[in-house]
Amino acid sequence: MTQHYRITLLPGDGIGPEIMAVTVQVLKRIGEQFDLQFEFQEALMGGVAIDATGEPLPAATLEACRASDAVLLAAIGGPQWDNLPTQQRPERGLLGLRAGLGLFANLRPAKILPQLIDASTLKREVIDGVDLMVVRELTGGIYFGQPKGIFTTESGEKRGVNTMAYTESEIDRIGRVAFETARKRSHRLCSVDKANVLEVSQLWRTHMTELAKEYPDVELSHLYVDNAAMQLVRSPKQFDTIVTSNLFGDILSDAAAMLTGSIGMLPSASLGSTGPGVFEPVHGSAPDIAGQNKANPLAQVLSAAMMLRYGLHQPQAADRIEQAVLQVLDAGNRTGDILSPGMTLLGCREMGEALLNTLQSQ
Ligand code: IPM
Ligand code: MG
Repeated sequence: MTQHYRITLLPGDGIGPEIMAVTVQVLKRIGEQFDLQFEFQEALMGGVAIDATGEPLPAATLEACRASDAVLLAAIGGPQWDNLPTQQRPERGLLGLRAGLGLFANLRPAKILPQLIDASTLKREVIDGVDLMVVRELTGGIYFGQPKGIFTTESGEKRGVNTMAYTESEIDRIGRVAFETARKRSHRLCSVDKANVLEVSQLWRTHMTELAKEYPDVELSHLYVDNAAMQLVRSPKQFDTIVTSNLFGDILSDAAAMLTGSIGMLPSASLGSTGPGVFEPVHGSAPDIAGQNKANPLAQVLSAAMMLRYGLHQPQAADRIEQAVLQVLDAGNRTGDILSPGMTLLGCREMGEALLNTLQSQ
């Protein structure tokens, strides 16, 4: 029986529309092969939304997202919106979407593809075999804690304030997602905090340790965030699943991404306890190459695979997309960001065609 899915597309800014166009074609092809019917609706978010409506996340966009089965987001932001006040910047739209859909769990896999091992800045022996998952808390911590703002003190000096805070229930729900994730992988979970200095981290650590009793098959370890950053570049293979707070996860997931050589390859999933998830590449909108058919669409395509796996529960269709990506790389196809000697340089659209041909012939 045909499965119908309503997907909201948020192409956003910069290279967003180009990589989204490729991904929609791939999804259509996959739909034909797996009897899935996608109803796509586009909505405005980020800089394009600011230009059209004055807001980075118009209410109509949030409504459309809420009413869909999953949301596929490309990238937002660009220099023309960088000088707006914080509340009006494209990034605010992203935070509003995360909060508005209750997407507290952000899964960011970083896996070395053998085909791209030489694209990494690290030595082959350090990264060969890296396969880790960062589970980042996404709707709490210092990104959202109160009080926040720039205030004026009694002496007339300005004072900027953000607050890193977590309740036990917030720690509990991200902890459970992380333990479950580790269970599906190699049963090792490393919780990253700054419990030697921060009270919020002490609560985090205590609660993770409590939770571990419910998951005796998962081996829990703890690292301070500064040490975790060092270990990620020193010997990344020690990690399987990492769970951490919003800010630490933001930083560590960029470092983890670069282990793989190109941030242009990495997808992510943001999930709540109910309702649609948001699936997006880890990279940004790359305004410097926008509109030039140079972007690497593979992180967006792999985000669609994550959507199929984690959002729509269609693991076979997800597998098929991931295989197709490996096959086009095996055949020597590369975009500029992952180009190495002897490989064929393709544009964004041509990479899309290579994927479609591979899917056709499977
Ligand atoms: C990310 C980004 C965002 C974040 C920005 C764009 C708001 O860096 O998704 O990692 O800090 O969460
Ligand atoms: Mg980030």
